[in-house]
Amino acid sequence: MGKSNRHKILVIHGPNLNMLGKREPEVYGNNTLENINNEISSKGSDLNLEVETFQSNHEGAIVEKLQNAMEKVSGLIINPAAFTHTSVAIRDAVLLLNIPIIEVHLSNIYKRESFRHKSMLSDIVTGQIAGLGVIGYILALEAISSMVKK
Ligand code: DQA
Repeated sequence: MGKSNRHKILVIHGPNLNMLGKREPEVYGNNTLENINNEISSKGSDLNLEVETFQSNHEGAIVEKLQNAMEKVSGLIINPAAFTHTSVAIRDAVLLLNIPIIEVHLSNIYKRESFRHKSMLSDIVTGQIAGLGVIGYILALEAISSMVKK
């Protein structure tokens, strides 16, 4: 497949993930979001995928990004961060997309405070990866790649 007709994959990072590197490194590691996005992009080129990464601290901005992805994107990787546990709006926007969707968390949310055990997305996504740090995004991209190329 040539460059212009590669599958497009959207990667969304939710609130406070722009602070990675400075934020609770004992939980989230030392990587910055820029490092993580670079790793995602280089894996994307290896897999011949067109990858767009997007971060926002605003629920409405994430909802609009998901709405705009309709009919344009072949796969979604999303770490909604704190909105994972609260956002019906993001859940409803994710439901607009009929594509493979992987929910990623850097930390193992089930090992942490009980309010993090509930995900508003876990029952509507294709799969979830939690607790593997940056590798989670790379594995998610591999999984999405094999799904969209089938
Ligand atoms: C997180 C887990 C969430 O509970 C938390 O609010 C985050 C990050 C993770 O990647 O482990 O901001 O989604």
